[in-house]
Amino acid sequence: MKALLLAGGQGTRLRPLTHSRPKHLLPIANRAHIDHVFDLLLAHGVQEAVLLTSYLAERFDGVIKPAAARGLPVTVAQETTPLDTAGALKNAESSVDGGTFLAFNGDVLTQLDLRRLVDWHVRRGALATIALTPADDPSAYGVVVTDEDGRVSSFIEKPPTGAAPTNLINAGVYVLEPEIFDWIPSGERYSVERSLFPSLVAAGAPLYATGSDAYWMDVGTPPKLLQANQDSLIGRFLTRAVPEPGPEAVAVAPGVKIGEGVNVVLSCVGEGSDLADGARVERSVLLPGVRVGRGACVRSSVLGEGVVIEPGVQVAGRTAADGEVISG
Ligand code: GDD
Ligand code: MG
Repeated sequence: MKALLLAGGQGTRLRPLTHSRPKHLLPIANRAHIDHVFDLLLAHGVQEAVLLTSYLAERFDGVIKPAAARGLPVTVAQETTPLDTAGALKNAESSVDGGTFLAFNGDVLTQLDLRRLVDWHVRRGALATIALTPADDPSAYGVVVTDEDGRVSSFIEKPPTGAAPTNLINAGVYVLEPEIFDWIPSGERYSVERSLFPSLVAAGAPLYATGSDAYWMDVGTPPKLLQANQDSLIGRFLTRAVPEPGPEAVAVAPGVKIGEGVNVVLSCVGEGSDLADGARVERSVLLPGVRVGRGACVRSSVLGEGVVIEPGVQVAGRTAADGEVISG
């Protein structure tokens, strides 16, 4: 089975970090998010992934070979101009060779049982099956209403706050039959959520959805990226990048310099970072090469590559651009 991974968005909610990289390459436990998606595919016997890219597409080059070395060949279907979610799938039609396939929002970190999802889809004889997950605030997502058999009766993308008829949302993981391509126009912007799924519902086509309580997180905002990193440390999201998860776990990459009296709490510290004497890093994510000065304190922040926190400075709730120098 193949998986098409949507990875062409600009990641606007994660700016300034996404000025220089797609959000899919931001770290979870010091590994690119997309590598965790590859792990999931490998764990469920997916044989090949197709990255659907557009924005900063060349930045994915570095993850392709290592994935192949781990047994997951990855090819790329790049849009010259972004075609939106369904347009991007259509643009990769030729890479699907006739059988049932998976499609994913590439910014989703999950431990969904893909085999179970595919079996469920096949048993229903569905054209498309949407994985569902519960959400506290469904208005930030695609809200999906089904009948008892799982048939979708309405798909509402980002309804106004308080207007969602259920808290079950589109997890951004789909099982699709190749006939889905007949429903998508080629070479133009077309949305899975705003056009394709509503059109399937309106036409009475077999669109199904099924829920699970597996770990799930869309990492598209700084608080969610921080949460996903903490979840990997405490073991709510299981990854071999954190071999011994727990309330005290931290992820410190190779080559990190740690001074005397440094305190790192529930944080991930990227390669080659330098934490000077007395520095404190709490519930934060540091990309490679960050320097935290003597006695400085970083809380609930995501710091881009090479960020410098001057000695004694206190930083909280900050999303800092690559190379930023924070002096108070
Ligand atoms: N190739 C390509 N081209 N990819 C795109 C494009 C495009 O034009 N536009 C968006 N993507 C990719 C993004 O990079 C991301 O990986 C994925 O498609 C979803 O886009 P987001 O921008 O992250 O959407 P969202 O989080 O607001 O909402 C979507 O995800 C929710 C679950 O996380 C929707 O699918 C919701 O219905 C869903 O609940
Ligand atoms: Mg998203």
